Amino acid sequence: MKLPFASFILTLALLGTAAVQAAEPTGQAAVAEINTVCPVSGKPANKKITLAYEGRSYAFASKAYRTQWQAARESSLYHRLGGLPAMDAAVEAFYVKVLADKRINHFFEDINMAKQRRKQKEFLAAAFGGPIAWTGKDMRKAHSNLPGLNDTHFNAVAENLQTTLEDLKIKKELIAEVMAIAGSVKNDVLNRPKDAK
Ligand code: HEM
Repeated sequence: MKLPFASFILTLALLGTAAVQAAEPTGQAAVAEINTVCPVSGKPANKKITLAYEGRSYAFASKAYRTQWQAARESSLYHRLGGLPAMDAAVEAFYVKVLADKRINHFFEDINMAKQRRKQKEFLAAAFGGPIAWTGKDMRKAHSNLPGLNDTHFNAVAENLQTTLEDLKIKKELIAEVMAIAGSVKNDVLNRPKDAK
C-alpha cells in the first residue's frame, strides 16, 4: 500500500522513538563494501573470486576457499533456521518477551533497545554460523556491569528464547541446537570461571 508523503511524515512523527529505532541499520546493511581479506584463509581476497550470499558479495583468495565457505554456510544452523529474515523475526519477538518479563526487564531499563536488537541479531547470526564474524564485545565484557546477574536471570532469558522459537514453529531439533549454543555462553555471561557448573 502506498501512503501519500504527508501521511508518511505524520506516521513517522506519531511513531516517534519507534520510528527512530526501526531506522537502526542491520549488521549486513552496515557492512556494504566487499571484503579485502578472505574469510576462510585470512589471505588477501581476490575481487574476481566472489559469491553472493543474502544480497551481499563476498571475495575469496581462491575458488577452493569459496567452495569451502559456501558449503559451511549452507550446512550452518543459521541457514537451516532461515538466515537473516529468521534471525530478524526471532530477535524482535524475543525482546518483546524479555521486556515484558518482570524477572529480567529491569536490566534493560536504560538500554538502547534498537542497538541491542541489532547487536543480538549480529551475535546470534555469527554464533549459528552466519556469514559475518562477531566483532562486538565478548560476552564477559558485555555483561560485566549488570549487578546481581545470576542463574535465575540467565534461565529466564533462555526460557524466553526457547518459547520464541517454539512460537515461530522452528523444528525441535533446531531449537535444541540453538539452546545448546546459548547454554555454552552461560559462564561468560555470568562472569564465572569457564568450567563452573
Ligand atoms: C544466551 C545468553 C545471552 C546472550 C547470547 C547475550 C548477548 C548479548 C549481546 C550480543 C550483547 C551486546 C554486546 C555488545 O554491546 O557488543 C548483550 C548485551 C546485554 N545483555 Fe546479554 N546476552 C545473554 C544473556 C543476558 C542475560 C541473562 C541478561 C540479563 C537478564 C542480559 C542482559 C544484557 C544487557 C542489559 C546488555 C546491554 C549491556 C550494555 O549495553 O551495557 N543478557 N548481550
